[in-house]
Amino acid sequence: MSSHATPVPMTSSACGPLTGTAEVPGDKSISHRSLILGAMCVGETTITGLLEGDDVLDTAKAMQAFGAEVSNHGGGNWSVHGVGVGGFAEPDGVIDCGNSGTGVRLIMGSMATCPITATFTGDASLNGRPMARVTDPLALFGAQSVGRKGGRLPMTIVGAVDPVPVRYVVPVPSAQVKSAVLLAGLNVPGKTVVIEAEATRDHTERMLAGFGAEITVEDTDEGRVITLTGQPELRAQHVEVPRDPSSAAFPVCAALIVPGSDVLVPGIGLNPTRAGLFTTLREMGADLTYENERIEGGEPVADLRAKFSPRMKGIDVPPTRAASMIDEYPVLSVVAAFAEGQTMMRGVKELRVKESDRIDAMAKGLRANGIDVDEGPDWWAVHGLGHGNVPGGATCASQLDHRIAMSFMILGMASNAPVGVDDGSPITTSFPIFETLMKQLGAKVTKGVL
Ligand code: S3P
Repeated sequence: MSSHATPVPMTSSACGPLTGTAEVPGDKSISHRSLILGAMCVGETTITGLLEGDDVLDTAKAMQAFGAEVSNHGGGNWSVHGVGVGGFAEPDGVIDCGNSGTGVRLIMGSMATCPITATFTGDASLNGRPMARVTDPLALFGAQSVGRKGGRLPMTIVGAVDPVPVRYVVPVPSAQVKSAVLLAGLNVPGKTVVIEAEATRDHTERMLAGFGAEITVEDTDEGRVITLTGQPELRAQHVEVPRDPSSAAFPVCAALIVPGSDVLVPGIGLNPTRAGLFTTLREMGADLTYENERIEGGEPVADLRAKFSPRMKGIDVPPTRAASMIDEYPVLSVVAAFAEGQTMMRGVKELRVKESDRIDAMAKGLRANGIDVDEGPDWWAVHGLGHGNVPGGATCASQLDHRIAMSFMILGMASNAPVGVDDGSPITTSFPIFETLMKQLGAKVTKGVL
């Protein structure tokens, strides 16, 4: 089992203005998908801007274990020689997906309709997360699975020998579940239909179309109906991975709360299924502008400029926006602490089954740092203290969750006393240059105890 064996405590203290340009790494969701889809093509897929975080590197290793040739050419340039749809080989060993729910769930989907068996594991966080949400629909194709109590990893999937197409209504708003079913549907004769009541990130649909699959999306009363025709010959592609809006969230939010800041975060994907945080921040009164708006690789992209915003107000975040900012609630709760009044976040039950229970992790850490938080099963509310009034001073548990660790580092940048995390090592899963980049902007983030 993989783990971040040695905890790396980190501390963040109040700093002068954050200024300059923050070039954040490639999008994690698109990076996983480019490796997996590359492995499912015949021929060479080339990738630029791949996120070289632990999560994606684990997916690259997994694709090698299933028979693809994956090469790192340096500087975010990678290539994949795929084995074709249905061509996965049976791996010799256990597939270790580390901390990554996206990695394990998408890979399970991609192998579940191949006549092979594979066993999956991960770190303590991933081995505690629910997998039935993926194995239930994969069983409809004819795949079998056996895991630990509660459908937890380690888990073995026995791929279907004669898979049948399915029509599946996704019961939770999850792009990982939707994507696992679509990837499984690739190696099945006939049409696989996936219906989602709420739109979640649509990278799999866009990329499948780009790789040459026949896929249609219709908005109906039932929701988004996605229809995929199975057994296409996927065409190897060149993929340019845009910079990750979920990583951009950290320098953007830091700039909003640190006095005098003015930070440019260039080339950020503003796909509407991902950009909910930026809309929310603007509604709170953030000085956040989009510059040089353009289309790149079929996706809306802009340079984000964030400036210190001392008069932000708490708002009710519409629950209909939750899927488009699901990974950004932890850092939004930090900004909410510096806003005036209450920020209410409803319809966010999914936050309880991420890399950690993110409502619990943030509520505990915020309270320890002097901020009032109320919570229920699927909602939470942060009582903002206004700029200059956030005490800080406590060390928080990151619970093996990169976004929790980074969020508390952002909190410390504008609190009255420094803020610590017990373990910042998970940050390497999604944003390996976080500390370097934040220091270049002027932040005081260091390894070590408070
Ligand atoms: C992801 C989907 C989301 C998100 C995760 C990445 C993806 O998870 O939280 O970080 O790449 O498909 P869910 O599908 O569980 O909502």
